[in-house]
Amino acid sequence: MPGFRRWGKSKLERNPQSSFKLLAAVLVITLYLIIKEFQHPTVHLPYTTPVGAHIQYTQWNGTGKAHEKRADKVRDAMRYTFRKYRENAWGYDDILPVSGKGSSSRNGWGAFIVDSASTLVLMGLWDELSHSIEHILGIDFTVADDLVDPFETTIRYLGGMLSIVDLYDAGLIPQDVLHDEARDLILEHAVTLAQKLAPAYDTPTGMPWPRVDFETEQGEPNPTFVFSDDPNKREYDHPVIGPARTGSSILENRVLTRMTGAYIFAKNSTLAWAPLVWSKWVSPWPGMVDAPIDIMNGSPVARARHWDGGHDSYYEYLFKITLLSPPTDPHLSLYKKRFLDSAYSLRKYLGSRSASAPNHIMQHLFIGRQNGEEYHNQQGHLACFAPGTILLASQQYNQPSLRTFALALLEGCRHIYTSTTTKIGPETWSWTPKFSYDEPRFAPTTERQKEEWTKSGIWSTEPAYKGRPEYVESLFYAWRITGEQRYREWAWEAFAAMEEHCKAPYGYAQLADVWQAKSEDNWVDMQESFWASETLKYLWLTFTDVETASLDTWVFSTEGHPFRMIR
Ligand SMILES: *[C@@H]1O[C@H](CO)[C@@H](O)[C@H](O)[C@H]1NC(C)=O
Ligand SMILES: *[C@@H]1O[C@H](CO)[C@@H](O)[C@H](O)[C@H]1NC(C)=O
Repeated sequence: MPGFRRWGKSKLERNPQSSFKLLAAVLVITLYLIIKEFQHPTVHLPYTTPVGAHIQYTQWNGTGKAHEKRADKVRDAMRYTFRKYRENAWGYDDILPVSGKGSSSRNGWGAFIVDSASTLVLMGLWDELSHSIEHILGIDFTVADDLVDPFETTIRYLGGMLSIVDLYDAGLIPQDVLHDEARDLILEHAVTLAQKLAPAYDTPTGMPWPRVDFETEQGEPNPTFVFSDDPNKREYDHPVIGPARTGSSILENRVLTRMTGAYIFAKNSTLAWAPLVWSKWVSPWPGMVDAPIDIMNGSPVARARHWDGGHDSYYEYLFKITLLSPPTDPHLSLYKKRFLDSAYSLRKYLGSRSASAPNHIMQHLFIGRQNGEEYHNQQGHLACFAPGTILLASQQYNQPSLRTFALALLEGCRHIYTSTTTKIGPETWSWTPKFSYDEPRFAPTTERQKEEWTKSGIWSTEPAYKGRPEYVESLFYAWRITGEQRYREWAWEAFAAMEEHCKAPYGYAQLADVWQAKSEDNWVDMQESFWASETLKYLWLTFTDVETASLDTWVFSTEGHPFRMIR
């Protein structure tokens, strides 16, 4: 557990008289600290120094300047996205980009508005931002339409608001768009929201409940969870949670603690991921956790191990927290060890090279998943975040072999994009492993899968595109870290394909099938707020000047919200 220390042989055993005095002194000090803590929670750790990192490539020699034309095209896509939402669905959580209807599935506070604001700031879209700020100031976070999902709410709403405050404090928002009082009000909203989310942490382990009821102020299980005394009727004894849900509130809460001085936020989010970081369960692979996990006793109820959806952002935050924690944080060296162990385990146990196919000799590197004893030769689009995070860590921790691994994974993700008809990657895909002891779990079965495999060495298992950012996010990191122009080119190819295939009458639609030729029938009437908070932001940042939101001074949350590297 955090804070736990194993003491060596103490002096108490040798000198009984001085030991009594020492004991008394310790008691008095402890009592004093406890009382003080209750009166006024203090920040034990100072957050004052902007500590820069050395992550970005430095020898640009003029090559890191903005590619104005391309950056402007992405900015136009953001303006279009915003305008259509504003005209047709203002105040709803999201717009449906084909029909133009409003839709609310994130408690109705206007998720799009809060989630897209940091993108508007970076792009300098002040008129749009003014409208958004006005809405944000009026949100009442004490009432919710429905049960609240602490994970989604933390990364989209809480992170979105904290990022606005940080961007303002960094002097990046003009005074006529935001001023001190409004800034303070947004921070107050953030505190209100975090306090409403607090019942999530009321479990014996400190791991969060999957939902919170804002009315009763109690944690709730996932809506599909079955409570039953009959073991045959229930899947698990207690609610369970994946590593991403319990392990990705620490960045947002660290920042909230820095801004407010209230230590409780950093503390609760640290306790929430403690069962992962300080896991007492033996996993055969260093650094990797088994999941899902019982929130009541912290034990894994199954043995799924991977960096894909449901696990992903725990590993992301395990690295990124080291860029936001004060240097005096006693856990930093453990976080580093856990991250590096897990990254090397990922490479060793889940990295898999594809075999050549009849019409495609090239082989690519992918990351599969372990499910109990079984290796699944399948990767999801979400796992394309891994190259970016591993590249960041390879810079910070000086691990050249991880850099090589990350860039190879990124090339694999690109292959997924360039293989399809639309030049956009699918939601999940499979490959035939070049090296495998057992019969691979997945093989191409349908005619269509066989054809895809013959041509490209991979086949889709779910051919949709959901507007996801992970591939272009990793391209952004690769561009800023290596300085190699090709990553900028790849990003442009991806953007051009999205512009061509996803642009719909009221925004940017998702696609049913990335192997289909251009057609309106291919549109899915959905646009998640991460399209604006991440996909367009990372694309734009790839084309704008490399000093904008430099990786040496900003850390991006898992939802793409930039936080200052102040420790
Ligand atoms: C950029 O300039 C530095 C120092 O002047 C030099 O060492 C480096 O090789 C140059 N890089 C490129 C890509 O020209
Ligand atoms: C912190 O966690 C405790 C449970 O350990 C909970 O009772 C409390 O409400 C939480 N507070 C916040 C601000 O999250």
